Order: sequence, then structure tokens, then C-alpha cells
Amino acid sequence: MDSLTALGDGLYVVDGPVVRDMGVHFTTRMSVVQLSTGDVWVSSPVEVPFEVLSEIRQLGPVRYLVSPTPRHFWRLYAWHTLFPDAELWSSPLTPITLKHGNLPLTGILDDQATLPWTPDLKHAVIRGSNWLNEVAFFHRPSRTLLMEDVIQIHDARPGHPLRNALIDLGGVAAPGGGVSRDIRLTFRHRDAARESVKRILAWDFETLVIAHGPLVTSAARLTVENAFSWLTQ
Ligand SMILES: [Fe+2]
Repeated sequence: MDSLTALGDGLYVVDGPVVRDMGVHFTTRMSVVQLSTGDVWVSSPVEVPFEVLSEIRQLGPVRYLVSPTPRHFWRLYAWHTLFPDAELWSSPLTPITLKHGNLPLTGILDDQATLPWTPDLKHAVIRGSNWLNEVAFFHRPSRTLLMEDVIQIHDARPGHPLRNALIDLGGVAAPGGGVSRDIRLTFRHRDAARESVKRILAWDFETLVIAHGPLVTSAARLTVENAFSWLTQ
């Protein structure tokens, strides 16, 4: 995509380049929110063309850079250089946080009741895993749930039977996708995880944005419920 796509009500997404993580190719997607204060909030920033960067700058001052999942922490470095005055926020650090140097973090996302962006974006840490403590956000104006790595939806690729079989076995094949079996195994504290999912499902969302998969604009709630059915049923 490589362009700033408006989803409405101040929410934008940009699809970045394909990256390799643990030997697997992943698409990348960042979310950009124009807050009601006029400031700009960026989650999981990706490499973008100059024109897209200009468009983002025109939305307002880039004030917050957020890594909501351990596997996207590395993306903060380049954007910290671009916007050195922006606050840096991260999901809880875990053994798989892709961190290769110090960054002047403003804070770790916990279950703080109020953050500067809370009037527009509520958040919840998905607890229960010691590895993937991802943070989900609910963009209230557009009624959109923003998630990253926990739920993935991968299309089958013609000519890649082995890859397609693994995607299927992993439980993340399109159309519904899900939480991959290896990620499920990291959720050792099921009660805490269930509590987090309950909190997320209490948000009144109708669209789901995930980092790895299509935008889910219909039956988003059902997609999330089904993705976590191994936990809740
Ligand atoms: Fe990711």
C-alpha cells in the first residue's frame, strides 16, 4: 500500500515493507491517529516514502511513538531519530522484545487509567503470556480495535504448498485467522488472559486492524471471539 490510508475519524494506516522475523516473511502495518488534541500518535511505525512522511507531518505534531508488541520495538529507533521530541512508549518488555540499544522511553504501557491519548484511545495489556504481552487499543471515534501480532490472518499463496499447510496447521489461515498455536502455548496464565480478552470484548468496536492480515471491516467482533475461543470455551 505504502500510502496513508484514511479509515475515518482521525485513524490512518500505512502498510510498510515486508520484513523477516524468525525466518518468516511478515507484512508490516502502522497505525496513525490524529488525536482530538491535534497531536499525532503513531503505533508500530514502519519505513515510509518521503511523501507519506510529509502527509503524516501535515496531520499535526508527532507526539507519541508506540510499540504495542515486543516484536515491533525495533521500529521505534528510526522514528525516534525522525521525531526526537516525541514520547516513546512500549508494551511490557519480555525476553523476545526486539531491542538492540537504549531508547529514552517515556513509559511502559501498563494498565494506567489515563494517558495523554486516553480520550481517543483506550488500551489494555493482553496478560497471561510471559512472552507476548501485547497491548490492544480501542480507537473510540472510529470504533476500531487495534491489535498487532496476537491475531493473524494469512492468505494462502499459490505455489507454496508447505507454507500454506503450516499456516493452516498454525491456526492463522484466512479467512478467519486466529491466534497461532505457538503463541497460544505462551499463555500459561489462562485466567489473566481470559480477563484481558473480556476487557477487550467489552469495547464497542466494529473494525479490527491487525499487523499481519487484512483489515477486518465486517464481523470484527466475531473474528476476535473466534480467535480466542481456545481460551474462553
Ligand atoms: Fe508483528
